[in-house]
Amino acid sequence: MVTALRSPVSVSVRAAAKINLHLGVGAVRADGFHPLDTVYQAIGLYDDVTMTAHHHTGIVLETADYIDPADIPSASENIAIRALDLVRAHSGRDGHERLDLIKSIPVAGGMAGGSADAAATLLAYDRLHGCGLSDEVLLELAAELGSDVPFSLVGGTARGRGRGELVQPLDDQGTWWWVAVPSRLGLSTPDVYRHFDRLFPHALAEPAEPADLLSALASGEPLRLARTLHNDLQGPAIDLRPDLGILIERGEREGALRGLVSGSGPTCIFLCDSLDGAHAVVAGLRGAGHDVVLIANGPVAGAHFLELP
Ligand code: C5P
Repeated sequence: MVTALRSPVSVSVRAAAKINLHLGVGAVRADGFHPLDTVYQAIGLYDDVTMTAHHHTGIVLETADYIDPADIPSASENIAIRALDLVRAHSGRDGHERLDLIKSIPVAGGMAGGSADAAATLLAYDRLHGCGLSDEVLLELAAELGSDVPFSLVGGTARGRGRGELVQPLDDQGTWWWVAVPSRLGLSTPDVYRHFDRLFPHALAEPAEPADLLSALASGEPLRLARTLHNDLQGPAIDLRPDLGILIERGEREGALRGLVSGSGPTCIFLCDSLDGAHAVVAGLRGAGHDVVLIANGPVAGAHFLELP
């Protein structure tokens, strides 16, 4: 039976969290953004967005137990609603949609949770209304919304340049095991970049390249990858939040190959040698009093449709 030609009543899209395996940051540009040379990886922590045509626009939220719903920006400030307004204006349509958002990606955590919601919203709108937007247009709209949003569409492992919005997929045959420790208290991305400017007033215009990391990725060897992980925002983030430095040391003592601040933080991520290794690090960190410790593998897909029955 062929039923697929009618417009769907609602559309669900899943989008993943990102981490940065390499985050090279150059001196601030005239437009206030920093030039980046970064290697993103999408990991298995997800937000789901279900979009339904509705009589008014709004968000209905459901959150994982480690997320405080009060931390999520209200509808008027939420990047998912900005994405909805942008794609609706681009398509020249009127009308309203409701977003049911199930959040598992830590909020203000340096894992691009808001960017994932924005990417999922663009895809959901396109499918719900049969707009047929090209990948190119979706990526352009994504870049207007935020530096990390194009990567949320692409997923996998990818190099990001420009301010992070110019994304080029990378070959990554590995399955990498990560432990992620979110923080109860978020860290503002602009604050961390501003602190980078204060700490490194003579930063080079060109961000550091990830040369060794690219060959480590291709090797599939966790120990090699561990040695090449790099984040220029880690120093500023730890200077603002010294507890993150203590957490990273602790995770490494508990057996992680390497601990790192994720993006601008405060989530910290730990590369482990295997799933068993990740379980051991989780047990160690829980024993040290960290009650929210998550395991995720990468790379995983970018924003994609969920066919619900
Ligand atoms: O692009 P996005 O909206 O995610 O950026 C949030 C803020 O992070 C920017 O307003 C800027 O302060 C900082 N940022 C930056 N350089 C980048 C990306 C973000 O300074 N490449």
